[in-house]
Amino acid sequence: MKIIVTGGAGFIGSNFVYYELKNSNDEIICYDKLTYAGNLETLKDAENNPNYKFIRGSISNRERVYRLFEEEKPDIIVNFAAESHVDRSIEDPELFLRTNIIGTSVLLDACKKYGIKRFHQVSTDEVYGDLPLDRPDLFFTEKTNLHTSSPYSASKASADLIVQAYQRTYQIPATISRCSNNYGPYHFPEKLIPLMIINALNNKKLPVYGTGENVRDWLYVEDHCSAIDLIIRKGKVGEIYNVGGHNEKTNLHVVKTILKILGKSEDLIEFVTDRKGHDRRYAIDPTKIETELGWTPKTKFDDGIKMTVDWYLKNKDWWEKIISGEYQDYYEKMYGNR
Ligand code: NAD
Ligand code: TYD
Repeated sequence: MKIIVTGGAGFIGSNFVYYELKNSNDEIICYDKLTYAGNLETLKDAENNPNYKFIRGSISNRERVYRLFEEEKPDIIVNFAAESHVDRSIEDPELFLRTNIIGTSVLLDACKKYGIKRFHQVSTDEVYGDLPLDRPDLFFTEKTNLHTSSPYSASKASADLIVQAYQRTYQIPATISRCSNNYGPYHFPEKLIPLMIINALNNKKLPVYGTGENVRDWLYVEDHCSAIDLIIRKGKVGEIYNVGGHNEKTNLHVVKTILKILGKSEDLIEFVTDRKGHDRRYAIDPTKIETELGWTPKTKFDDGIKMTVDWYLKNKDWWEKIISGEYQDYYEKMYGNR
């Protein structure tokens, strides 16, 4: 089979490319615009694999996407391509609407025009909004109402609705997964875990938003990849699957854990102005994918975070190139006067 992985030069998409090259005999095509978040260095270990090919292009470019379908005749599309950072969506919502909503609809139009065996939309638990901190008994299930907080989550929820509309109206064989926060290798340094690891290594302050009590439900990226792999092969068309491994942690706990692994002082922590509209708690109930597809996550947070810190220690070349470029301007703009 031929699988097109859109956004495959980003964090989760690249991990998925490697997962498939290792665990299947399928042909994998990475289709990516290479925005600031896309990085061909990330995919250099795949370059010589005969089952792998990279094609540059945007999911929002209709003509380019149609040509991609004509030339490649894919069996499966897995759509990771997106603007993915909440803080950036607060600065520039429109880009998120264009990429995440229009881009998804262009891909779906191509599926409708040329046919597809499976379209999989990689969504997020952020479409459910947030849960209160004092109700640990509450979890997101697939039936939880959509209730978005940020331009990012609103754009992802909109894309999900469009996928469902195309599935029902045009019988596009689509599935959707909604996963909790991922962490692991190749995570772009603007996100919490890599940012804190890199700042700590450079003895820079670790900017914790608000009080640091917000809770995220962390999943090691390879476990997300195995879930998507199962869904595209065994998942039922028209279904939504929540993905998460019950690894809820406060941001402060995550930051302190990183400092402890690196043997650095907690004095590096700096509480800064809170994010606007900051979601309090995310927590996934993964019962459906566990019982219907037999998925189980392999990596617990305490192991995964050590593996991740170790990866950043061993791959300085990868992140030093990123943080030496335009990322500096971004950092100054977001954190300079916070
Ligand atoms: P990322 O920002 O690291 O990567 C996004 C990739 O998409 C980049 O390679 C970028 O170049 C590419 N891209 C952006 N616009 C494009 C366009 N118009 N056309 C083609 N490619 C384009 O993001 P990520 O963290 O790997 O997230 C991937 C997907 O998973 C996103 O859809 C995100 O919403 C979802 N998700 C992420 C998480 C998480 O914790 N990171 C959790 C759940 C779901
Ligand atoms: P992030 O990695 O941006 O993921 P998301 O907002 O999609 O969950 O942020 C994770 C949590 O960490 C979130 O509650 C915001 C917080 N955070 C900080 O406290 N400081 C930071 O510098 C960043 C980037 C995030």
